[in-house]
Amino acid sequence: MNDLTVIVENAKLAFAQALTPADLENAKAQFLGKSGHMTELMKGLAQLSVDEKKTRGAAINLSKQAIEVALNARRQAMADDELSAQLRADALDVTLPGRQRGQGGLHPVSLAQERIEEIFRSMGFDVAEGPEIESDWFNFTALNTPEDHPARSMHDTFYVEGGSITAPNLLRTHTSPMQIRYAVQHVKKYRTAAGHSRDDLFSGSMPEIRVIAPGRTYRVDSDATHSPMFHQVEGLWVGENISFKDLKSVYLNFITTFFETDDLKLRFRPSYFPFTEPSAEIDIMFQTGPLNGRWLEVSGSGQVHPQVIRNMGLDPERYIGFAFGSGIDRLAMLRYGVSDLRLFFDGDIRFLSQFQ
Ligand code: PHE
Repeated sequence: MNDLTVIVENAKLAFAQALTPADLENAKAQFLGKSGHMTELMKGLAQLSVDEKKTRGAAINLSKQAIEVALNARRQAMADDELSAQLRADALDVTLPGRQRGQGGLHPVSLAQERIEEIFRSMGFDVAEGPEIESDWFNFTALNTPEDHPARSMHDTFYVEGGSITAPNLLRTHTSPMQIRYAVQHVKKYRTAAGHSRDDLFSGSMPEIRVIAPGRTYRVDSDATHSPMFHQVEGLWVGENISFKDLKSVYLNFITTFFETDDLKLRFRPSYFPFTEPSAEIDIMFQTGPLNGRWLEVSGSGQVHPQVIRNMGLDPERYIGFAFGSGIDRLAMLRYGVSDLRLFFDGDIRFLSQFQ
C-alpha cells in the first residue's frame, strides 16, 4: 500500500469514527485543512522535477477527491441519522381517536319548559313571554297587591333605579304580571272594534283568553329547593263561564301528560293570594316510584280576583276565569329525580350531559 492509499484509508476511518458534526469537521481539518496531511503533501511537490510533479500531483488530487467523497458521504449519513432520530421523536399515532367537539343539548329546565309548552299548546293555550325587569304596577299593584300589602314581603326582590309603568324597576318575583300584560293586549284588540271607550270595562264578546307564560323569576331566596333565580309558568284562562272545574281538568290533564302516568292524585289545598279568590295550592301525589305516598306542592292557583279582571280592562260581572303559577324547576326535579335545585344552575357538564 503506498502512502496515499494509507492516508485515504486513515481519513475514511477517522470520518467513520466521528460521532458528531464537530468531530467530523476536526477530522476534515486533519486531512484537508491548511496544515492537514494533503496540504503538506502538496507542499512537498515543490522539490520534485516537472515530470514527477505531474504524476505525483495527479495521484495526490485523486486521493484528495476520494477523501472529499468519503467526507460528503459521512456528512450525508449524519444528516440522515439526525433526521430519522427527529422523526422518531416526533412520532404521531394517526390511529388515535381525534378530539371531537361535544354535541350540545338542551338544559333539563329547558327540556321541561318545552314539554310544558307542547302540552298546553295541545290544549289550545297560546304561549307568551314577558319582561324579566318589571314595573311595580304589573308585578304587584295590578295584581291587587297595593304598596303596603303584607303579601309583598314574601316577594322580596332586586330593585333597580326608576319605577313607573314605563320605567320598570324590579326583577319580577313571579310570572303573574303576564296575566295583566297579556289580557290588556288581548282586550285592546276587541274593545275599539266593539266601540268601547278606554274607560269602560269591556263587556262585549271576545274570544277567551287562554295563555301560558313561562320564564325566569327572582326572589331573595337560596337553599336546596330555592334559588334566587328560578322558573315559573303562569297559566290563565278567562272567559264567560270558566270555573274551578276547568282548572282541575286542565291541570290534571297537564300533570298526567307531563309525568306520563295516570297513577297520581291531585289535591287543592286552600291558600291565599291577593290576586285570586278563592285560592289554592295544587299538590300532587304519585302512587308508584320513590316519591310514592307524599303530597308534593307544584303550583299556586285560584279564581282570578274581580279587581284583577277589572285591571285587565274587563267587566267582572261578565268575565271570570282561573290562573295558576307552577314552578318549572320543581317539575323538572320531580320528573328527573333531582334532589338539589342548585345542580340545575351550577353548570357542571357531568350533571347536564345526563339529560342528552
Ligand atoms: N304567583 C304566585 C306565586 O308565585 C302563584 C300563583 C299564580 C297563584 C297564579 C295563583 C294564581 O306564588
